[in-house]
This record gives sequence, structure tokens and C-alpha cells, in this order.
Amino acid sequence: MSEIFLNGAFLPQEQARVSVMDRGFVFGDGVYEVIPSYGGHFLRLEQHLDRLDDGLSAIRLDNPLGREQWEAMLTHLIGPAPAPDQSVYLQVTRGAAPERDHLCPDGVVPTVFARAKPIAPRDPAVAAAGVACITRPDIRWHRCEIKAISLLSAVMMRREAADEGALEAILLRDGMVTEGAATNVFVVVGDEIVTPPRGHLILPGITRELVLELARDQGIRALERRIPMEELTAAQEIWITSSTREVLPVTRLDVVPVGGGVPGPLWRRMDALYQDYKARVRRGCA
Ligand code: PDD
Repeated sequence: MSEIFLNGAFLPQEQARVSVMDRGFVFGDGVYEVIPSYGGHFLRLEQHLDRLDDGLSAIRLDNPLGREQWEAMLTHLIGPAPAPDQSVYLQVTRGAAPERDHLCPDGVVPTVFARAKPIAPRDPAVAAAGVACITRPDIRWHRCEIKAISLLSAVMMRREAADEGALEAILLRDGMVTEGAATNVFVVVGDEIVTPPRGHLILPGITRELVLELARDQGIRALERRIPMEELTAAQEIWITSSTREVLPVTRLDVVPVGGGVPGPLWRRMDALYQDYKARVRRGCA
């Protein structure tokens, strides 16, 4: 079994122990990141660690590690280049308090946990046929920009998606698209790509930002604005994005074909740009 990182030490996963009083366990009181790496090089590590800083400040928890300590620890976990493609899951909780009390006393030491796992190569069927999604009301809280470990609603919605043979649930709040349960959402309207704006209603995805950047670099018009449900259901293409799923074409929404029912031309272009970017990461030059 591979090594994990827990509170300053690298150890085999089966030897890792966390207190039952840990506020991550009791309250879901913590934040996390998922960072992909290719060939031993992280994709957008600074941006992931910046978002971690933002989440920690939002929940008023001091970052227990400095930037260099994070980088050294994460690099140790994935091993030296050329390493297999892996994603690292890391989480920081407020730590184990003596009693269960919503108000955390002073002096509790945060818990830091990180673990790497292989990134499986994409199933060729995805590029050929795309994936199915369902729509669901966005039942989450109003601080979705915080990458909180409390993910009960996302877990419930993912189950509902799986029960309907879909990969992901696309969420709607007040008739507007927000994001997926664990992805950001793009739609193609004419020759433009559109994604909902940053704010409290979505996670500012690192992949989302990269897709916007890659599009704009190529002269593809990329807009951040609200997307009404009618625009989602009428879109020529729908994509979902995340660090582990990259950019996926959605070809069925609530069982209805999207556009032509196959991955669209703009997705193929974006996927090529994304794969090219990954190749640069792998060579250590992105
Ligand atoms: N999820 N929106 C939500 C609600 C997410 O949970 C995620 C990522 C994203 C995409 O963010 P990024 O591009 O930075 O990965 C958007 C991760 C991968 C997860 O929970 O496993």
C-alpha cells in the first residue's frame, strides 16, 4: 500500500489514524483540494494552493503549512519525474477538539492529510459517444466557492445521477445553471462558449479557468454570464470540467440528446488544446 501524508509524517495508509473527535469527521469542518499531476509535474499547482488559501481564510483557519512545505510534501507524494499520472487529494480540517462543540476552542491543531492515486486513462468511449447528465435543483448552501469537505448534497446528487445511468448532475438554482455536483459547466451557443460567472454559487474551478484561457488564446469567444435553463436545454454542446475529468462532452441531458447527440466540433477543438496543454505539463514546460 502506498504512502500517505498525515500531520507531518509519511506513512503507510493502514497505519494512519485520526481521532474520532476530529472536526472533519464530526462536523465536516475543513477544506480540500484535488490536484492532477502528469509525469511528475503538477498542473496549476499555484492556483490550487491559492484556492486552498482562499478556502482556509473563508473558514477562518490558519494555513498549517507554508507554500514551500506544501510543494515539497506534494512532490514527495507523487515521486520524482517521470512519475505516473496521479491526482493528489489533500484536506485540512480544524483538528480534534476535546468536546463536540460547534464553537471550536483555541489551541486545536489542524489535521493535514494528503494521498496520491493514479489517474486512469480516459475511456475511448467518452470521446466517441460523450457522457450522460441529469439536471437537479441546486440544494447546496450559498458558499459554494469554498471547497468544503462537507459534500453530502454532492454525494446525494451523484447517487441520483448514477441511478439514472448518468455520470453527473447539472444543478439549477432559480432557473439558472450553477455547476455540476463536482464539475463546472460550459455550454456552446453559436460560436461562443459560455459558463456561469464566479461568485458564491459555484466553485472557481481551476479547469474552468484553464478552458477559458485556452479558448481566449485561440480567439474562441468565451463568456462568463448567467445561463438560464432554456439555454442549457437548447445548447449545441454542453461540457463539464474538473481536474480529474478534464473536459467532457455531455451528449445526453435528462435522456434527451444534446445537439447532434455526439461530441461536438468545439469540444473536439478544446479537448485537443487541453491534451496539448497536459503534454506541456508532462514535459515540465507549462
Ligand atoms: N471537484 N465544482 C465543484 C462543486 C467541484 O467539486 C469541482 C471539483 C469542480 C471543478 O474544479 P477543478 O477544475 O478545480 O477540479 C467544480 C473535485 C475534482 C472533487 O471533488 O473530486
